[in-house]
Amino acid sequence: MSTNGATLNAPLGLLAELTHRCPLGCPYCSNPLALDQREAELDTAAWARVMREAAGLGVLQVHLSGGEPAARRDLEQIAKAARSAGLYCNLITSAVGITAQRMEALADAGIDHVQISIQDSEPQSADHIAGYKGASGRKRALAAEVVKLGLPLTINMVVHRANISRIGAMVDLALSLGASRIEIAHVQYYGWALKNRAALMPSREQVEQAVKEVEALREQHCGRIVIDAVVPDYYARFPKPCVGGWGRRSLNVTPAGRVLPCHAAEVIPGLEFWNVREHSLADIWRNSPAFSAFRGTEWMAEPCRSCAMKEKDFGGCRCQAFLLTGDARNADPICHLAPQHAHVAELAAMQIDTAYHYRR
Ligand code: FES
Repeated sequence: MSTNGATLNAPLGLLAELTHRCPLGCPYCSNPLALDQREAELDTAAWARVMREAAGLGVLQVHLSGGEPAARRDLEQIAKAARSAGLYCNLITSAVGITAQRMEALADAGIDHVQISIQDSEPQSADHIAGYKGASGRKRALAAEVVKLGLPLTINMVVHRANISRIGAMVDLALSLGASRIEIAHVQYYGWALKNRAALMPSREQVEQAVKEVEALREQHCGRIVIDAVVPDYYARFPKPCVGGWGRRSLNVTPAGRVLPCHAAEVIPGLEFWNVREHSLADIWRNSPAFSAFRGTEWMAEPCRSCAMKEKDFGGCRCQAFLLTGDARNADPICHLAPQHAHVAELAAMQIDTAYHYRR
């Protein structure tokens, strides 16, 4: 089957944003500024249906995320539904609010893998970044429980100006917690992160130093642990193939049931998102206007249209193109061939030491 000139494959992954409620206030959160309220959240039965429909559509892996997914009392039931549907079940958690007992119940319910974020190697700084006193200690405690239960643990660290000089120490911390995989991600400037961009943006020198450090860490720990690292956009010359290409590999379901091609898609005006309350996931994947909008390469303008990379990077990120140029059909200005590329360097140079706008 093809839409918009693109072959339509089955999606591999589903990001289930179960709730936007979260005890932490991380200033780099990519959730939207207008958070879905508790009353608008899908109920347990609706999420269980989403899991069955996802599996039927070909999805292999579900990421139970948020906000903090454990803020939902029915998280065990949702995990159970995902597992019964045959999905590999990854829990993405802040770790705050999950007791050892609840973690055990979640493992019994069918969680296959746990991802915990850490904010810094220094507890005081970590708590300050998270906007929650004691967060760092709780993360360490839950990581120990996860390892004790024999579940694979990924430690995710989001890097920015306040912690970029301690990547090595954060990797040491992740190793000491028993992580089998480490994900180092520079802040991506959407949602709350965009609001805090000047306070979070590292300098070019810091980024160059960090890239070297990550390479050295990979060599040092080769064969022992997998270290995935995402290059910081604003200092790159080539755009990332965001979400593996719009509507190609994954979908996101928001707490209220809207289905998005990527977590930030709602920033693009004029897109029509369908909701799982009214449509099946398969119908949405195949036919919803938002998924069709930037699928394939037909929608592209120059310089993407005639670029040899267009089937590899898909023109970069649609949301970033809109946020930085005002038109989602433009090339992602991170690309050195984009007419607005010089503007990105100007934005990156705007670094201001100011208090964070915490996500609340
Ligand atoms: Fe939406 Fe990149 S975040 S396409």
